[in-house]
Amino acid sequence: MSKSPILSAADLHKTFKVSSHNYSTAVLTALGQVSLQLSAGETLGIAGESGCGKSTLAKIMAGLMEPDGGSVLYKGTKLSQLGQGERTLFRRKTQMIFQDPFSSLNPRMRIGDSIAEPLKIIGTSTVRQREELARIMAAVGLQSDAANRFPDEFSGGQRQRIGIARALAASPEILIADEPVSSLDISIQAQIINILLQMKTDFALSMMIVSHNLLVLRHICDRIIIMYLGEIVECGPASMLFQRCRHPYTEALIAAIPGLHIAAVPKSELLQDDLPSALSIPSGCRFHPRCRHAVDLCRHEVPKTVEYARGHSAACHLSNRLYD
Ligand SMILES: Nc1ncnc2c1ncn2[C@@H]1O[C@H](COP(=O)(O)OP(=O)(O)OP(=O)(O)O)[C@@H](O)[C@H]1O
Ligand SMILES: [Mg+2]
Repeated sequence: MSKSPILSAADLHKTFKVSSHNYSTAVLTALGQVSLQLSAGETLGIAGESGCGKSTLAKIMAGLMEPDGGSVLYKGTKLSQLGQGERTLFRRKTQMIFQDPFSSLNPRMRIGDSIAEPLKIIGTSTVRQREELARIMAAVGLQSDAANRFPDEFSGGQRQRIGIARALAASPEILIADEPVSSLDISIQAQIINILLQMKTDFALSMMIVSHNLLVLRHICDRIIIMYLGEIVECGPASMLFQRCRHPYTEALIAAIPGLHIAAVPKSELLQDDLPSALSIPSGCRFHPRCRHAVDLCRHEVPKTVEYARGHSAACHLSNRLYD
């Protein structure tokens, strides 16, 4: 596996203007200052509670949303500096899979035509289109007669297979999946996860997978990024995060996984209060109001991101004291 980044982000910042209670406009910070790298052939997981900025990050990385600041780089070149042809190529090489693929499928188009659409756009001959369609549908476990049916005739799991097939038809290098299994039954989730794992090998993909389910990410990913209120608080190899995390927020997320009895203190004490609003980010370490270890320093000073082992970093003033 090559280690050069195929896709990276440098200091991404994103805000949204939202109306507040008295009809005035407020500024919500969805991404603070996010930097990351996706190596060629790597599967990177993005986790964190609802509203922490996972989907915003995924859309910006896929070039579907503009950041307010910072850059996304495709093979070292900023997306903003790509020419029109290169930009079109990036769009084709970077495909996104959504939680509900139904919303991105034309309800009046037979799914065979929907899946083959990217092939048509790049001028693939009709014969080749048919061959590729059969190959891709088989790869995601769809019966060939499914090609003649319409999206509303399929179950959630089948629709997700269609979404993956459509993404694969564009011959992508990078697959960005936003909660690809969270709306599916547990048994179907396992099938889709296995398909994604198989795709990674068969199609030599680099993948970024967003999920609030850390167990799913541990199963699929090489590395996992933990986000909190729009920033990365910890990043490391999937197995290392579970064996020896370096941030109390990661510890709390792992301890909250049903069936994992690893918390030395009651789960209710690991994560205090609810997630604060992205409209008023706490001072200092943004996690401090919910952290049972917080000291004065945490309330006033933003923690630096420190690398504790190769590829394993965290932003917590107390990491050494808590985890060494
Ligand atoms: N188009 C938008 N307009 C206004 N605010 C938005 C918009 N999109 C996202 N946000 C806000 O930005 C923050 C991050 O949202 P985002 O959807 O990226 O979170 P998420 O981590 O994907 O959450 P979830 O797990 O619920 O999908 C949230 O506070 C959200 O309300
Ligand atoms: Mg989301």
